[in-house]
Amino acid sequence: MIDVKNKPERYLVTSALPYANGPVHIGHLAGVYIPADIYSRYLRLRGYDVKFIGGSDEHGVPITIKALKSGITPQDVVDKYHTIIKESFERFGISFDIYSRTTSSIHHETAAAFFRKLYDDGKFVEQTTEQFYDEETGQFLADRYIVGACPKCGAENAYGDQCEVCGSTLSPAELINPKSTISGSVPVLKKTSHWYLPLEKYQSFLEKWILEEHREWKPNVYGQCKSWLDQGLQPRAVSRDLSWGVPVPVEGAEGKVLYVWFDAPIGYISNTKELLPDSWELYWKSSESKLVHFIGKDNIVFHCIVFPSMLKAHGEYILPDNVPANEFLNLEGEKISTTRNWAVWLHEYLDEMPGKEDVLRYVLCANAPESKDNDFTWKDYQTRNNSELVAILGNFVNRAMTLTWKYFAGKMPAVGELTGLDREVLAEIPNIRKELENYIETYKFREALKKAMDLARLGNKYLADTEPWKLLESDRNRVATVLNVSLQICAALSIILEPFLPFTVIRLRKMLNIGALKWDSENFIEEGHQFSEPELLFEKIDDNVINFQTDKLAKTKTENLISAKKAVPQKSSVTFDDFGKMDIRTVTVVAAERVPKTDKLLKLTIETGIDRRTIVSGIAEYYKPEDITGKQVTVLLNLEPRTIKGVESQGMILMSRDVSGKMCLLQPSEIMDNGSEIG
Ligand code: MF3
Ligand code: ZN
Repeated sequence: MIDVKNKPERYLVTSALPYANGPVHIGHLAGVYIPADIYSRYLRLRGYDVKFIGGSDEHGVPITIKALKSGITPQDVVDKYHTIIKESFERFGISFDIYSRTTSSIHHETAAAFFRKLYDDGKFVEQTTEQFYDEETGQFLADRYIVGACPKCGAENAYGDQCEVCGSTLSPAELINPKSTISGSVPVLKKTSHWYLPLEKYQSFLEKWILEEHREWKPNVYGQCKSWLDQGLQPRAVSRDLSWGVPVPVEGAEGKVLYVWFDAPIGYISNTKELLPDSWELYWKSSESKLVHFIGKDNIVFHCIVFPSMLKAHGEYILPDNVPANEFLNLEGEKISTTRNWAVWLHEYLDEMPGKEDVLRYVLCANAPESKDNDFTWKDYQTRNNSELVAILGNFVNRAMTLTWKYFAGKMPAVGELTGLDREVLAEIPNIRKELENYIETYKFREALKKAMDLARLGNKYLADTEPWKLLESDRNRVATVLNVSLQICAALSIILEPFLPFTVIRLRKMLNIGALKWDSENFIEEGHQFSEPELLFEKIDDNVINFQTDKLAKTKTENLISAKKAVPQKSSVTFDDFGKMDIRTVTVVAAERVPKTDKLLKLTIETGIDRRTIVSGIAEYYKPEDITGKQVTVLLNLEPRTIKGVESQGMILMSRDVSGKMCLLQPSEIMDNGSEIG
């Protein structure tokens, strides 16, 4: 370890390397890149030495599959998406110090050397297993390359690792009539040997390091780590039989590459090396450096368990100080999905909404899925723009600037005697700054942004309270003081908003005719300073702009409905009599409550027109008690009573359920008498 004493703090900030098999969308941004960018910009403003590392993850099976499907090479695939991703990040102001890629030669060398060191030090175990093999083309098949009927739902073309229709996790041996997607032939089992990292050997180190020494990690991260550790760790294969990737640097390992999750995190190291050929080790090997990984929740195990074990096994590297993973962002109430094109793609947004980079940055930060999954809606986007960015921030700056131009020819007015209110308002600047520092340093970016906006709110209130426009005749000195205070606030905003709204801050500084100020500046603008002409920082977004976006999504939805054959297969036929035995009715829910100690169950009291009875229904994930009370629904009345969690359920609420498990109630299209028969 290199030890450097008495040097300023040094940070290495990494953000998950996105797979170069598609463009990035708002889910990636809200989960990873916006928080990482805010954090890095903040640290730079504070004067710390910080390097913000990004890059594309260009190996792995999904990329080879995409290539096969489009009839191009894997290299073509990654070239295409790496370019799109890199450019869109740049246009969006993600301030990477480097954005490189895992197909670079420096990465191949670095990853191979890392593997080789662990190999030479005897850190791996070698194991032989049986894997599916395509005899026609002479290659082993990754799970994704095998398709067959799903043993769970019967759908054709389920993959060897997952059925996309019913969502079940599968193994290739379970598929009915398995076929190789490369040649169409029936795969056979064949022995192959691979290297494994025996994670169980790192179990007690990880338990101490995470569970005892990093209790401050976010609850969602800590909880996931604890659950992995509680289950007990198993050896993990670090190589694969595949032709795309970093070749395993061992004699006799032809046709084998490093598993993508082994090489990708080493990409953080390779990219730092590429950026700083001479000094990269300071960032990775000095105990004075802090390493922080920004990732989404699906990456937690790799960054908190697997990669640290690799670093520990290697022995020369520091471990992450924190891994502030976010949960997922949904879009208009549904999971973002690349295959279903259910996403707002960054490169499309940038083309369709020119000049609105900061609006998206603002909305995605204000609504970031920091502790639970969250939803992005275009309506909310519009509201936050119109009633926060325009009405609070834009409005305040604009009022201060236009009044100054109107009454003082655009020059900083002289400050007179300060009132108690003036002092209070000015004193809030360092207070807010302190609170904001605290929030950012504990990865609470939503709260931090809210704090920054509080300063603009305060400015608005100050203008409303002092009403300088009314004092022009009576007390010009007072007007000067109020505007001076207001413009000091504008200058303070140009500092604290920089991590969040970098494009806006550039325009604000131009208007104020100032350069970048120090984070903890106290005196911002001198008397007599000449401002530039005011311009609006934000514009209202009209309904037609929002409708364009929601129409686009609606179109996607229709296309998906038309093209998707996603329903479970039809059941075997029933007789008319069988059907007639079922007593299905329209009823009204008169009361509803949660069944204690369950997540999914509601206890419903229903009026059937015959009696009042109780039904227990597993819909609590979709309906709150208050949402369902008073609704007419459909029930199967004569289902045998069953006791569920100690409550007798007399009937079943009928629901529509899709293959993802999403459910909704069946309601009559008009109010009907309770007890009306259905059939
Ligand atoms: N490509 C992965 C994903 O998108 C993330 C890789 S992060 C790294 O989920 F650490 F491996 F680089
Ligand atoms: Zn299935």
